Amino acid sequence: MVSYLVLCLALTIAASSAFEWKHHNNEELPLLLEEVHQKCPSITRVYTLSEPSVRGVPLYVIEFAETPGFHQPYKPEVKYVANIHGNEVLGRELLLGLADYLCEQYLKNDRNIRNLIEGSRIHLLPSMNPDGLHYLIGRNNNHSVDLNRNFPDLDAITFEYERQGINHNNHLLKDLTRLGEPLEPETRALMRWIMSIPFVLSAAMHGGDLVANYPYDESRSGAPVEIALAYASNHADMSSTTRRGCNAISPEDSMTYNFGKQGGVTNGAAWYSLKGDFNYLATNAFEITLELGCDKYTYANELETEWERNKAALIAYLWQAHIGIKGTVCDEANYLENAIISVVNITGNVPRPIRHDVTTAGPFGDFYRLLTPGHYEVTAKFPGYFSSSRVVTVPYHQTSAVVINFKLEKIGGTYNAGLRDENLCVKVTSMTLRTHI
Ligand SMILES: *[C@@H]1O[C@H](CO)[C@@H](O)[C@H](O)[C@H]1NC(C)=O
Ligand SMILES: *[C@@H]1O[C@H](CO)[C@@H](O)[C@H](O)[C@H]1NC(C)=O
Ligand SMILES: [Zn+2]
Repeated sequence: MVSYLVLCLALTIAASSAFEWKHHNNEELPLLLEEVHQKCPSITRVYTLSEPSVRGVPLYVIEFAETPGFHQPYKPEVKYVANIHGNEVLGRELLLGLADYLCEQYLKNDRNIRNLIEGSRIHLLPSMNPDGLHYLIGRNNNHSVDLNRNFPDLDAITFEYERQGINHNNHLLKDLTRLGEPLEPETRALMRWIMSIPFVLSAAMHGGDLVANYPYDESRSGAPVEIALAYASNHADMSSTTRRGCNAISPEDSMTYNFGKQGGVTNGAAWYSLKGDFNYLATNAFEITLELGCDKYTYANELETEWERNKAALIAYLWQAHIGIKGTVCDEANYLENAIISVVNITGNVPRPIRHDVTTAGPFGDFYRLLTPGHYEVTAKFPGYFSSSRVVTVPYHQTSAVVINFKLEKIGGTYNAGLRDENLCVKVTSMTLRTHI
């Protein structure tokens, strides 16, 4: 009887809090995230980044996972970041709507959403720039700084290496000798977050055009034109060849600047963002920049329509964290953190190294390498150990990455064939290593 009453009460509360499509201000934003958390407490967590904005507004994140607060092996970490420019409000509302949708669909036993949440860890940051949230103030933070341009310029290092013929374009933060512009608190908070969670995939949301933009170098490195296409082709008309370009000046000029002609995607060279390149050049994560519409400011009565136009794309993009390969690297006793995973594409006649290594994360020594279908030779390396290579085929229509584990043998150790059985890595998992990040 008591539990029946509790159930009725719970249902009443749930029913009373239907998501409303409107602009949520800085006070309403955390209340809404908390409401979603109350509806779905076992699969969500609301947390704030290490530092608040210039004016002291916390930067709130809602996380969806089977074990909120914990990184788990074989479960890729994904994030969406919005409202980087204060006056670009659509992404902010889409992420609040997405949070509510993920929770509601999970409760309704939607198989696709349940599988997604159970197999990944999803972080949504609806506003990186709460101080700039005002139609008239514009894009910057309270120090009049454009946060998108406030990240360390790792591209400069890449260009310098290319000039010198050095083949190295990943995990570049350690090569940075000076920071350039002073970092804003919002930028520092984002950098700490990006460096502390082993993100695999990310998207940053903007407005002002309709296109998914991938970093300048990603075409050379494994998959990501396809990853950007996954968003564009699942959006209502981002990839439409006949829609009017955002900067067209007349109907006759409708084809000008229509990114739909190229599938709704474009390369970063034209859409410079230090932030996207920071993800790509300093960490294992691929980040695309989404321009969600011609207008930067979306009116309240258009928000629900925009949600319907973006919904499938938002979900399809999260699934992209599950393409390619994933696994762990260990030795006979421990998982190895910061082991290097490099890949050679052996699909065609000529083997082609993919010039962008990824590293294993702690504490499970796990890695994720997004790759399109084909054949690859994958090598795991760690100082003081023999490196190990395996050939793997990435099939078409993946719903889960191909698992390949490596067990490395110490140089100078006694040879023991049993030590090479990579399945033994799995044993360590049962030690229930957990870190709270
Ligand atoms: C910063 O915030 C203060 C306090 O609200 C406000 O008066 C000022 O105009 C803001 N400056 C900018 C550049 O947004
Ligand atoms: C691998 O090589 C094949 C054949 O050359 C090519 O079509 C494919 O795009 C390459 N894949 C990656 C991820 O580089
Ligand atoms: Zn923007």
